[in-house]
Amino acid sequence: MKRTELRLIFADKEKYADKMLTVCGWVKSVRTGKHISFLTINDGSCFNNLQIIAEDSMADFAEASKLNVGAAISVKGTLTLTPEAKQPFELHAEEITVEGASSPDYPLQKKAHSLEFLRSMTHLRMRTNTLGAVFRVRSVLAQAIHEFFANEGFVYAHTPIITASDCEGAGEMFQVTTLTPEEFAPKENGETDYSADFFGKKASLTVSGQLEGECMAMAFGKIYTFGPTFRAERSYTQRHAAEFWMVEPEIAFADLSDDMELAEKMMKYLIRTVMEKCPEELKFFNQFYDKELLDRLKAVSESDFGRVSYTDAVEILEKNNDNFDFKVSWGCDLQTEHERYLTEKIFGKPVFVTDYPKDIKAFYMRLNEDGKTVAAMDMLVPGVGELIGGSQREERLDLLTERMIETGMSPEDYSQYLDLRRFGGAKHAGFGLGFERLVMYVTGVSNIRDVIPFPRTTGSIY
Ligand code: 4AD
Ligand code: MG
Repeated sequence: MKRTELRLIFADKEKYADKMLTVCGWVKSVRTGKHISFLTINDGSCFNNLQIIAEDSMADFAEASKLNVGAAISVKGTLTLTPEAKQPFELHAEEITVEGASSPDYPLQKKAHSLEFLRSMTHLRMRTNTLGAVFRVRSVLAQAIHEFFANEGFVYAHTPIITASDCEGAGEMFQVTTLTPEEFAPKENGETDYSADFFGKKASLTVSGQLEGECMAMAFGKIYTFGPTFRAERSYTQRHAAEFWMVEPEIAFADLSDDMELAEKMMKYLIRTVMEKCPEELKFFNQFYDKELLDRLKAVSESDFGRVSYTDAVEILEKNNDNFDFKVSWGCDLQTEHERYLTEKIFGKPVFVTDYPKDIKAFYMRLNEDGKTVAAMDMLVPGVGELIGGSQREERLDLLTERMIETGMSPEDYSQYLDLRRFGGAKHAGFGLGFERLVMYVTGVSNIRDVIPFPRTTGSIY
């Protein structure tokens, strides 16, 4: 069967006017009269639904009139333009074939459901307007990321998912093992004997592809990874998931300001691409989820991002300490409330906060001249807070080794990483973009569970 996707019809109705077409999709609503039935279907290829008219002169009329919401059908009919009506055209059916019936207890009837209710049916919720729009935007963003880096001459690198290193040094890793509970039990010395484990040593799911990304960058100059990332943080916030996707570029012969320039250029490209490719979806989000979305995206795509050092940011935040749950002082990590205050109230646009105290950042960040701060940057955006975390990397072997020891890591376990500093090391930098947070930012949807099809969060896996 040659079917015509709804997106093609909506993109060029003149081309299909008065033609006989076959369309396929899922029934979103049914209105049945004695001699005529109105069905709307959606096929997932675009936001819009198609109205179908079935008249009693048609052989399948009885069957069509009994259809339940959720059924999968294919329809052969003629497309008629309807300039006076609410919808631009409709399909006058000649044949309706039921591919898969539904039943009256189909949970997604034609009424608005809360996002929370929809989370209890991850297998069906992508057929709703909201989740359908979110996941199409997600797909467009993912493809735009590859486009952007391809256009900029980056090599796309696949970094491993199973790893023996802890990039962020936070110990928030999901362990991967084939040991039985008996084999896993601590031995006399109080430790598990990993020599019998699959890899012969302790292994986990990766928290970041950065360490391997740095190796690739030292061969190709500019690389990026884009893949699943895992964090066993027990957080119950709206912006943390245990499994999420991260985009991580790494650039050689580059410093922190090159890194921020790249991040800003990428963000603008991604936002412009979504505005161009998903206008219906964005209009919908603007209407139902975030009234300022379209204005904000347009402004962000056109204006320069803010920049402020951590030290200056702390000075600004301290003035507002009365209104924060966590009081700010130099040396503390910024909480979401602080991040949002900076980007929403002070800057009113995305802002890079730079040069954080070394003690609240990962071991690999380059130590600044002051000996107290590191060449780090976080990009904060309104509504979400931290969207990107990045840094210039410590390329000086002695300082890096010292820092590893200081943070309780053993340099022997990272000999390859240290080797990069021995054999043709170069100044380099990179960042990680939380892909789900990007989708949240671009759609105005405020819970991470609603921007990934099958969310895995603390205490919850569907
Ligand atoms: O700031 P993070 O921890 O940075 C890194 O992992 C670096 N190795 C990246 C690099 O320089 N190559 O994480 C980067 C981003 C965050 O800014 C955030 O957007 C997202 O990843 N992120 C999460 N997103 C969803 N759920 C979580 N639990 C996340 N943890 C981090
Ligand atoms: Mg971070």
